[in-house]
Amino acid sequence: MSGTSLDGVDAALVDLSQDIPRLVATHYQPYAEPLKEALLALHHSAHDELHQSHLIANILAREYANATQSLLKKAGVDATQVQAIGCHGQTVRHRPEHGYTIQLNNGALLAELCGINVVGDFRSRDIAAGGQGAPLVPAFHDRVLRHPNIHRVILNIGGIANLTDLAPNKTTTGFDSGPGNLLMDAWIAKHQGKAYDKDGAWAASGKVIPALLQRLLDEAFFAAAPPKSTGRDLFNLRWLERQLGGSEAPADVQATLLALTGDSIAAAVQSFCVGTKEIYLCGGGAHNAALVRHLQQALPQRRIQKTEELGIAADWMEAVAFAWLAQQTMQLRPGNLPAVTGAAHPCVLGAIYPA
Ligand SMILES: Nc1ncnc2c1ncn2[C@@H]1O[C@H](COP(=O)(O)OP(=O)(O)O)[C@@H](O)[C@H]1O
Ligand SMILES: [Mg+2]
Repeated sequence: MSGTSLDGVDAALVDLSQDIPRLVATHYQPYAEPLKEALLALHHSAHDELHQSHLIANILAREYANATQSLLKKAGVDATQVQAIGCHGQTVRHRPEHGYTIQLNNGALLAELCGINVVGDFRSRDIAAGGQGAPLVPAFHDRVLRHPNIHRVILNIGGIANLTDLAPNKTTTGFDSGPGNLLMDAWIAKHQGKAYDKDGAWAASGKVIPALLQRLLDEAFFAAAPPKSTGRDLFNLRWLERQLGGSEAPADVQATLLALTGDSIAAAVQSFCVGTKEIYLCGGGAHNAALVRHLQQALPQRRIQKTEELGIAADWMEAVAFAWLAQQTMQLRPGNLPAVTGAAHPCVLGAIYPA
């Protein structure tokens, strides 16, 4: 898995032979700064972007292959024992309204380098069927994290935040609520040269600017009913800077961005996941102590914990989900939930590059 945060690659070796997935080994491989910069640049139209995007896709395939090989070495497992690599690729455009989404990767090269079946391009088929192509993890949450009579929400705080609503005796729903970490990451990178605001400490040192927070929350995406998905296409530094006066103290803007993430998630739970009792956090944002405090204050009646409590580590949830999605594809079973993405029907997702 390599998500919108552009932090790096999460490689998980998962045993899916039983009903409950077992995380066998993990390996995290951060992106070098130049690769992150190149990926950020590809989010916007620029000279020679077709050629550049294919060169970067090749670099990514080598990153994914290295991550796979390091993972298998750690686990002492041979490539011949692995059924498939589920590889999300790196999103550089997500435009379901135009009928496409782009996750860069070279699946052919990855299969060639690893000698393992590769499943990639998970989102396009759902969009072809009229869906958002996202989020895709709710099908996995539905399969393994439901409780028969407790209303749970799974909240993944990556670059973008997405929720899965597991209401007893109801169809599972899910959607993107808006920014997770990506605006906070971008703002601290600009002002302090850091990749992220550790534990939300910088945000906690500032004061929320209520008028700015309100202008940001006025973005139409927040009030729109699901199905909905989003990305850096909408939520980026330019979007933020359009709402800034220019005289704000940077720490106060960071505090406001943390409040934006927290409040937009809380509002999404209240509007679209009515009756939620328990919230389980995953993704890197689950480590942001200030953000978790903000969420707990905004949603006082709900018990907020990490997905560790449900047996899947918060840092590895998405990677495990994409291993499961790859298994679904290899077995020619659907991986999307039409009630989540808005697709016309369940689809077998992805493209297979045989070993
Ligand atoms: N200790 C921490 N404090 C605050 N934020 C954190 C911490 N650890 C990770 N993060 C955030 O999590 C992000 C990575 O989360 P991840 O789940 O990998 O997102 P994505 O799926 O978008 O790649 C980092 O960019 C950072 O913003
Ligand atoms: Mg990540």
